[in-house]
Amino acid sequence: MLFVGCDAVRENQQSRLTVRIGVNKEHLEGERRVALTPDSASRLVKAGHEVKVQGGCGEESGYGDAQYEAAGAEVGFGVGDIAHAVDVMVKVGIPSEYEVGALQRGSAIIGVLDARRNTELVSHLAESGLTALAMELVPRIARAQSMDVLSSQASLAGYKAVLIAADTIGKFFPMMMTAAGTIPPAQVLVLGAGVAGLQAIATAKRLGAAVSAFDVRAVVAEQVESLGATFIAPPSAADAESAGGYARAQTEDENVRQQDFLAPYVAKSDVVITTAAIPGRAAPLLVTSQMLSGMKPGSVVVDLAAETGGNVEATMAGESVECDGVIVHGPVNMPSTMPYHASSLYGRNVESIIGLLTDENGGMMLDFDDEVIDAVCVAHDGAVRKSFEE
Ligand code: NAI
Repeated sequence: MLFVGCDAVRENQQSRLTVRIGVNKEHLEGERRVALTPDSASRLVKAGHEVKVQGGCGEESGYGDAQYEAAGAEVGFGVGDIAHAVDVMVKVGIPSEYEVGALQRGSAIIGVLDARRNTELVSHLAESGLTALAMELVPRIARAQSMDVLSSQASLAGYKAVLIAADTIGKFFPMMMTAAGTIPPAQVLVLGAGVAGLQAIATAKRLGAAVSAFDVRAVVAEQVESLGATFIAPPSAADAESAGGYARAQTEDENVRQQDFLAPYVAKSDVVITTAAIPGRAAPLLVTSQMLSGMKPGSVVVDLAAETGGNVEATMAGESVECDGVIVHGPVNMPSTMPYHASSLYGRNVESIIGLLTDENGGMMLDFDDEVIDAVCVAHDGAVRKSFEE
């Protein structure tokens, strides 16, 4: 067990310890979420911690300063003042250079650091004497579900993808029987049925669409069918689930066969939502431009893998483009478009991880024998952690 925290906390070790937790407004452009909501702040204060928030930090996600005050948080500090005065800084995304400079050596930073891609940032945090905890590295085990930020945020993305499609397509989703004639339900195809895909299926079903889905992991078939959708798969495809429960990358040959299999399903769909991902790699290409040209004009594709290269050849991250009459959306940072609930779920994830980092006296402890702490902690004690580099 290793103690984390500033001198101010250490001096106080005789009595119950107080961890000072700071929240600033996110600095990255377009980021509307906040790392802790008043609800989460209130629970942390009740647990004996101090929460200090920058005035206006929750404004864009629908949480006002008065709500933070009512939750027992201190409000109104400047960005640097907060960073300097806390033991733990919680972020949605990466910290700014200014925040890193203002944090005291020995304090901790928690956020979605995208640590595997941002290796320079991880080294910088280590050199700055900070303990860095990367939320995206929380292992997908039952005990850590309440900290699983990938799931909490992917779920929002899957939901919103369907709304975008429904809003763009010039068709009803449900079947309509009217005096002027019967309208068939929209045909929605979801490619990749992980957390985001399953939420997309559930949402499209609720809107009344006829939904089918495909994934390279055979285990998903039952989950898809339990939502009332049809699972499609080539007759003799090998199960591509790896040991960690994720999909393994497909071979070149498997990719081509997959595209051949999917082409007729894509062609007859009104809406295609793609969510396929392989952790640590570029997104697999599932829908080629030739496949798009087989779709009916006015059809809509929403590519949730846009940020990691896209599942659709025509995707442009952050843009909506038209390809042979088909609209292809490549949205980025979808959770930020629903900042109220995205922040609420994220705050719960952060709260849970802080709970895991706190000992019975209220002090911050890092137990590297704990598989969750071992996985998320990427920098500590002036160095990048070996287990992260491996
Ligand atoms: P992800 O975001 O890495 O991938 C999304 C989906 O794309 C996955 O279902 C994957 O199989 C699929 N995919 C990859 N390549 C594909 C291809 N070429 N064609 C079609 N589909 C392809 O995965 P996500 O959503 O983060 O979850 C993955 C796994 O983690 C699942 O097994 C899920 O059950 C598990 N999980 C476990 C949790 C827990 O036990 N605490 C919590 C959340 C997820």
